[in-house]
Parts: sequence; C-alpha cells; structure tokens
Amino acid sequence: MKLIVANFKMNLLIKDIHNYLEVIEQKLNKDQVIFCPNNLHIKYFSEKNYLVGSQDISFQEYGAITGDTSINQLKEVGITYTIIGHSERRQYFLDNKYINKKVKLALSKQIKIILCIGENLKVFEENNTFSVLKDQLDNALKDNLNYINETNLIIAYEPIWSIGTGKIPTNSCLEKTILNIKTYLKETYNLNLKVLYGGSVNLDNIDSLQEVSEIDGYLVGSLSLDPNKFLTLINKINN
Ligand code: PGA
Repeated sequence: MKLIVANFKMNLLIKDIHNYLEVIEQKLNKDQVIFCPNNLHIKYFSEKNYLVGSQDISFQEYGAITGDTSINQLKEVGITYTIIGHSERRQYFLDNKYINKKVKLALSKQIKIILCIGENLKVFEENNTFSVLKDQLDNALKDNLNYINETNLIIAYEPIWSIGTGKIPTNSCLEKTILNIKTYLKETYNLNLKVLYGGSVNLDNIDSLQEVSEIDGYLVGSLSLDPNKFLTLINKINN
C-alpha cells in the first residue's frame, strides 16, 4: 500500500475543512493517508481518527518563541506525524539550521517524521542533485541514529523546482534518484526507509508516476485541497 501525505500548507478555512471531512467520510483507508492541515485545523481530523501530521514543529520543546507551536501542543491536538524540512520552511525560515534539532525532538516525543529533501533547479541542471540530498540527509540524521528506524522516519523527495510548478522529473530520473537515496541510507546508516515523491503530483501525471517502481508513496500539495480530486487521485494510486 502506498502512503499518501496531504499537505494543505496555509490553505482552507474551518468551513472548508468541515466540507472536506463530509466529502471524504468513509471513502478512504485511514491507515493510508496522513493529513497535514494548518495547525488550527488539526483537531478536526484527529477527532475523526484520521492520521494527522503538522507541517512543522518548533525546534524548542517549550519556551519564549513567539509565534511558534510546540510539539507538546501539537501532540495534544492529535498529531502522530510531523513534516520536517519542507523546502518552504527551508526557504523562508532558518530551518536548515534547526532540522537536526527538530528530528531529535520529534523522535524523543515518539512523533513520526516525514523528512523533506530536494534540490533547486540550478543544482538539478548541474547534475549535483545527489550531493545536495546526501548533505540534507546527513544533516538530519547525525547524532539521531540510535533512535531512528523504518517506522518513525519517512523520506519525501521533493525537487524544489517541481513544487507548485507542474514540472516533474522524468521517470528514469526519479527511479535513479530515489534508488540512490535508498542505497545511500542502507549502505551508510543501515536504514531501509520509505521514500515518497512530492512536487506537482496531479491527476494527469499520476499514472506515469505509478510506473516508477521505487516510489513508496506521494506528498501531495495543491491537488489535496480539493477532496473530490484527492479521492480520485487515491483511487488511481490504488488501482
Ligand atoms: P504541490 O506541493 O503538490 O502543490 O507541488 C507539494 C509540496 O510542497 O509538498
């Protein structure tokens, strides 16, 4: 079964969430899909026993960090997962600096991690993708290895130039990059991790993406905002 993560980013209002929940009611496998809505909307999903993740966590467990949300507060409203290192966090905030700390904190609180890694267009065009991904993996994993296993860490490979652009790597490129990630994790850290693909996953490209055998699931942004389209996508993935 392929895992599907829905990343709502900063979208939707409470009325939309209620409508969303009505549309999807009893139409999906609750073990397959992890919803990552805005923090204010997490409880609406957790109350109905959906798997829920936050889109980020504060790097501090508690304290004077105005505007942040702590992992304990997020756990209280029902997350069992968190995304760490999404490229939008890396771009607009200081996330590169804090990713290792966030990974450590999530592991210590038994929150499962969806770790996003990805290269920008320049790196991709210069054929340096893997060296960037390797650095991102090393940075997240160092000093955390004793606590990481196949069940608490999932990698999401998201080329930055694919996010929200409609452009995705070719299948052979994806096959190779994801295999490189898996081989590196196995050989260097003795970890067999699931690797999801994220970036412009939509109803037009999903059939083709499904042919990439190394993809273990998807991180879906804008398409997941429409519950009907999202259900159609899930059906295509499962067929
Ligand atoms: P997208 O977003 O599907 O809208 O490209 C994916 C993501 O940023 O996680």
